[in-house]
Amino acid sequence: MFYSANSFLLINKGVIFLKKNSAVNLSGRSVVALENFSAAEIRLVLDTAYEMKKIIRRGGEKKLPNLRGKAIVNLFYEPSTRTRTSFELAGKYLGADVVSINSGTSSIVKGESLRDTLRTIEAMGVDAIVMRHKAEGAADFATRVVKPIIINAGDGAHAHPSQALLDLFTIEQRKGRLAGLKVAIVGDILHSRVARSDVYAMTKMGMEVHFVGPKTLLPRFFEFDGVTVHENLDDAIKNADVINVLRIQLERQQAGLFPSTREYARVFGINNDRLKLAADDVLILHPGPQNKGLEISSEVTYCEQSAIHDQVQNGVAVRMALLDLTLGGAN
Ligand code: NCD
Repeated sequence: MFYSANSFLLINKGVIFLKKNSAVNLSGRSVVALENFSAAEIRLVLDTAYEMKKIIRRGGEKKLPNLRGKAIVNLFYEPSTRTRTSFELAGKYLGADVVSINSGTSSIVKGESLRDTLRTIEAMGVDAIVMRHKAEGAADFATRVVKPIIINAGDGAHAHPSQALLDLFTIEQRKGRLAGLKVAIVGDILHSRVARSDVYAMTKMGMEVHFVGPKTLLPRFFEFDGVTVHENLDDAIKNADVINVLRIQLERQQAGLFPSTREYARVFGINNDRLKLAADDVLILHPGPQNKGLEISSEVTYCEQSAIHDQVQNGVAVRMALLDLTLGGAN
């Protein structure tokens, strides 16, 4: 039975196999950043994620056999709740063996280098490493020193590809389309790997992207075509179909990038009054974790147009799609 142009489900004795039938193929590919993903490849991930979401939601047995016999290590050098948990569940729902390593409880605290940690993991016969690191370029470095597939789960302020893919998926599910929508990305653009990945993913899918934040949190030399940069929040969110509210990354800031949190909330915080300027059915996203009352008010987080909760569930489906397509190969 066909569900989409790119994939179909074959139901055999209660076991569901996801079969791919597509000219686009991500088999064996590492996922470091979306710069080198085509629109067709992004489409394939989204279409596969729709199938994965049906499996998560159908109740009862969630496990697929697609990655049975594969081993995945989650290597996280920075704190994470949703990204690490959702990659872990995604691997398990696909039948893989998944182990998570946190920097605080591994030999990393004894001073082991990134290269040595990666080689140690490789020596244990691992097929994929999902990795988060504070340094930009860490995931790319990993692809050059070890053979397993590398999935970047965030490298410094550089990229967070799975977050951008789940943002697209959430928007398309709620709005029915991507092309032609206006999205305003608000806040700490300078330190945001989410904004940097979103911009590639969204412009490739035909969306109109606007950045806004205090001058000190905007990139000084913004080299990207197709993005409008604003210093005034109202200009950016006027008629926006989607507002993606970024977390103020207090841990990456040198002191003094904005006068005070109260001042930030007053000038750039997203609250009900602010929403009146956007389209009536504006969708609200936030990658989490939220600083409530700073970049976003509680009333906005829990309002009907907020898709923040959907993003978490969609994160598992999109990460299942990514792992299946890269590691599972063309079944
Ligand atoms: C983001 C991250 O870690 O880059 N969060 C996430 O993945 N859920 C955004 C952030 O922490 O600001």
